[in-house]
Amino acid sequence: MAVTPSSDLLAQLRWRYATKQFDPARPVAPATWAALEEALVLTPSSYGLQPYRFVVVTDAALKARLRPVSWNQAQITDCSHLVVFTILKGMGLPHVDRFTDRIAAVRQVPRDSLAGYRSFMVRDLVDGPRAAIIDEWATRQAYIALGNFMTAAAQLGVDTCPLEGIEPGRYDEILGLTTHATVVACAAGHRAAGDKYAALPKVRFAASELIDHR
Ligand SMILES: Cc1cc2nc3c(=O)[nH]c(=O)nc-3n(C[C@H](O)[C@H](O)[C@H](O)COP(=O)(O)O)c2cc1C
Repeated sequence: MAVTPSSDLLAQLRWRYATKQFDPARPVAPATWAALEEALVLTPSSYGLQPYRFVVVTDAALKARLRPVSWNQAQITDCSHLVVFTILKGMGLPHVDRFTDRIAAVRQVPRDSLAGYRSFMVRDLVDGPRAAIIDEWATRQAYIALGNFMTAAAQLGVDTCPLEGIEPGRYDEILGLTTHATVVACAAGHRAAGDKYAALPKVRFAASELIDHR
């Protein structure tokens, strides 16, 4: 397995920034985009439950409808691909069962052998105290996908802008979502040559303030 040298990883993480101006004439190449979709799918989640769905918007007319409900941010219409991170609302038993079936199929194990794992998930998330915050829990999982996506994109030389400046309820209406709810979005593409934000120094607290060694 080829391991990315630390210097290459850090170079890409320093290269990335929240892109304000995308070049609409430079879409992400299909093979690169396919890898980024796979990175989304490969995102780890609590118990592996994947309580989300990623809506990928490339249609210009649809992007134009989303822009006014996104603080009119130009990234929405100028980007190559807009990923809308949505959560499964009120995740409950049907999803836990669907996931358990999936484990049995992928790992070729009897469904019965998963009874303990299934009841553990149910006791925690369906019948347990976390049932009351299940959408919040699902949102955390979706944000892991967002972080994973941005890091993967940077490694492939694709620019991104994470976007909380959106109206999630209006996104749900426009995208026709019923079982799922929008939590955050991310524009992806290639930066425009004139985006002055690309050259701004990164503002981060000192590592000593953010990292506590014990
Ligand atoms: C969850 C999240 C939501 C954000 N929402 C927006 C947004 O709506 N519009 C925008 O221009 N930048 C947005 N940003 C970008 C941040 O302002 C930016 O990541 C931060 O200032 C650090 O700068 P850098 O990403 O360029 O290193 C968001 C970032 C995150 C992580």
